[in-house]
Amino acid sequence: MARAGVYLETFGCQMNELDSELVAGRLRALGYEMTPNPEDASIVLYNTCSVRELAEQKVWSRLGELKSRKAKDPGLVVGVLGCMAERDGEALIRRMPVVDVMAGPGELDKLPELLDNAVRTNASLAREMPGGIRRADGNLDESALRSAGQVALQGNTSRRSSTLGAAQDDLELLDLSRAISPTDHNGSAYVRITRGCNKFCTYCVVPLTRGAEMHRPPEHILDECKRLADAGVIEVTLLGQTVNHYRFEHAAAESVNGVVQPQKGRAYKGGHDRDPFAGEDVTTFADLLHRIHEEVPAIQRLRFVTSYPRDFGNDVLQVIRDCPRICRYLHVPAQTGSDRMLQMMNRGYTVGQYMEFLDRARSYLDQPEIGRPLTVSGDIIVGFPTETNADFDATLKLLRDAKYKNCFIFKYSPRPGTVAYEKIEDDVPDKVKRERNNEALRVQAEISDEISRSLIGSTLGVFVEGPSKKAKKAAGLSHGQIRQAGQVELTIGGRAGTGEAADGGVATIKPDAEPVQLSGRTDGDHIVFFDTPAGETPASMTGRIVPMRITDADRLSLHGKPA
Ligand code: 5AD
Ligand code: SF4
Repeated sequence: MARAGVYLETFGCQMNELDSELVAGRLRALGYEMTPNPEDASIVLYNTCSVRELAEQKVWSRLGELKSRKAKDPGLVVGVLGCMAERDGEALIRRMPVVDVMAGPGELDKLPELLDNAVRTNASLAREMPGGIRRADGNLDESALRSAGQVALQGNTSRRSSTLGAAQDDLELLDLSRAISPTDHNGSAYVRITRGCNKFCTYCVVPLTRGAEMHRPPEHILDECKRLADAGVIEVTLLGQTVNHYRFEHAAAESVNGVVQPQKGRAYKGGHDRDPFAGEDVTTFADLLHRIHEEVPAIQRLRFVTSYPRDFGNDVLQVIRDCPRICRYLHVPAQTGSDRMLQMMNRGYTVGQYMEFLDRARSYLDQPEIGRPLTVSGDIIVGFPTETNADFDATLKLLRDAKYKNCFIFKYSPRPGTVAYEKIEDDVPDKVKRERNNEALRVQAEISDEISRSLIGSTLGVFVEGPSKKAKKAAGLSHGQIRQAGQVELTIGGRAGTGEAADGGVATIKPDAEPVQLSGRTDGDHIVFFDTPAGETPASMTGRIVPMRITDADRLSLHGKPA
């Protein structure tokens, strides 16, 4: 018999998306059924992000919305996963007694156990409810409900001492147990190569929530890539907070129960060339990229995010240049264009060093003449404490010099527990942050627009990801369904407005309906929109790389026609 329906919503970064996929796979294997609609679910899980306050606020409001539902349906199980669970701990439960289960990013392997526990507790709670918790007027007794809630919480708060570090082996097992099905993807997948971060940028909560940097054994990564390729995946994005610092020392490898263990990240020892201390028994990031490219040729596109601007070796640039299936795309955040701010952020490089890196990367990789330009994207924080107009002007200059395809621009958000929060007053008024944010967005828009327009008329390979958000909305899919990857996207019909998925994922085609708009990405990560060509369906197009003539462009996307 199928177990309770689970709704799992993901906030934040790609690392969280991968964590959610792994968790969903584990739960499915245990008989839980995943559902794209929270209303149909008896277990609602949020995989959360703490990087900025705004991301947390969204989760608080979702949890708030569940309050009244849980009052009516005490059997409902609510779980908070990811960074908020790690960071807020008991405080989160105190503020939101609706929460039954919490698991930080380092404890996700324990989630099935915790859920089982909570489901059982809540079910017996629900049976007791009518007499025990309802007041004479038939309404629920809030205080009785709260104390009942506390019962369900046992086992969550008490086990928190084991977070970070100690659970690493089990986390590797979670990655290793990844369920890969030939139908449950749209041709693209994430593969984790490192987890955690040792950089301690002063504004950032990630080292506190995801713990110390750990590097996965290369054999595990290669094996995962091969299994994905066997299941039909043709695009792989390698994930790590500072992905280019990947390094595995085989001589120091340790095994537990026959499983090679991930290794702690060590200080990078090299300069711009291959780490001179890395002998044959070390797999560097360049070695790893090369091995995946050579040993898993079915992966037609290999990407990686996010790169740290310091210690990006020429050996990596050479491998990208020489391997045709590695994308010429770098996401390499500068964060600010002011040396003073960089120092206060503890970023460990100067603007000069950052620009030197970009120049070096472009000298190796930017080859528009052979149809292989390098595209670069970035992240910027505006309004870091003490940021002056002059500092901000330096950031605008960096945007103009760096020529990002796109840049994520964030207003500084003070995060409790970080050095900046504890030691530096958040003295830039929100109004100023907003103005700087808008100005930086405006400058970047001009640059993005120019880069996009330069591509009009060219023919680029586009990896088709599936119906565009617009098409999914038109087909009447709910917010939850739109957010779900894979299956749902594949089962949308051939034309907009039909909504219903029929046999084999091909819906009835209304003769008067408009073609479904699809979206995809170029090698350089430009988003391309185009209509499903005649004789094809979204399902038949999804997961393929299709040559596309670029007909139009705006700052965020390109429009094309199959060539
Ligand atoms: N405030 C604003 N932006 C932040 N980022 C990380 N921490 C903060 C913060 N406290 C941004 C950085 C990082 C991206 C993932 O989020 O730009 O690269
Ligand atoms: Fe955060 Fe800095 Fe690590 Fe990136 S490198 S995750 S910004 S601490």
